[in-house]
Amino acid sequence: MTDGAGRTPLIAGNWKMNLDHLQAIAFVQKLAWSLKDARHDFAAVEVAVFPPFTDLRSVQTLIAADKLPLEYGAQDISEHDSGAYTGEVSGALISALECRYVLIGHSERRTLHAETDEQVAAKVDAALRNDLVPIICVGETSEDLEKHGPSAVPVAQLRAALAGVTTAADIVVAYEPVWAIGSGQAATPDQAEQVAAQLRSTLAELLGADVAGKTRILYGGSVKANNIAGFMREPNVDGALVGGASLDLTEFASIVRFRNHVGV
Ligand code: 13P
Repeated sequence: MTDGAGRTPLIAGNWKMNLDHLQAIAFVQKLAWSLKDARHDFAAVEVAVFPPFTDLRSVQTLIAADKLPLEYGAQDISEHDSGAYTGEVSGALISALECRYVLIGHSERRTLHAETDEQVAAKVDAALRNDLVPIICVGETSEDLEKHGPSAVPVAQLRAALAGVTTAADIVVAYEPVWAIGSGQAATPDQAEQVAAQLRSTLAELLGADVAGKTRILYGGSVKANNIAGFMREPNVDGALVGGASLDLTEFASIVRFRNHVGV
């Protein structure tokens, strides 16, 4: 099932640097059971988790063995395919764990690890050449917002991230205003929609209307069970990238089931 525009909503949980592999197994198993008990239709709303690298093999084994209808991915990827890059993890290594997605250019990578637009673009290329779907994260700081208005920086970041992409590609874009991440102060649905609409026009300009129409754009930044519905009602918002609330099983399951509790 899809939304009006034919895009299947995606609710993604970015665990950041939380939960070891044993905790990950317990969490993923409980999440799948709890959603199955609630008769969640996984084809109608896709669910993905983004554990730390050290958990991915355990999550893969569990999901494959129990045939759980959940997707998973990595939180980062090296721009290089192999070689002397101590501490880096390549697309081939991530792909070997049957990940579907990889987060790229999260604001914490950009600010705490000085990741540049050029590196983000190189990582997007690395994901695509290793059959991974990049979730390209973009977003403005509060200073950017004051100086340049709401969509200038996210749009510029998206353009830069897609510098090497010329053909139709399976990608996801996550709009995460930096000021809304972990602050408890989410954007309003209207603010998210305005930027998402600009991002979609940019996709249309760069990759064509067909790709733009198919690409899912997520909102991230203080998403909770009590505000997800507002975002999901917006025509250009196709899901959420959830941080803190993705570590709380009941809260995350409730976000996934936004349709049931709000009748969207
Ligand atoms: P919070 O949901 O904790 O604000 O984090 C959002 C985020 O950074 C997801 O990638």
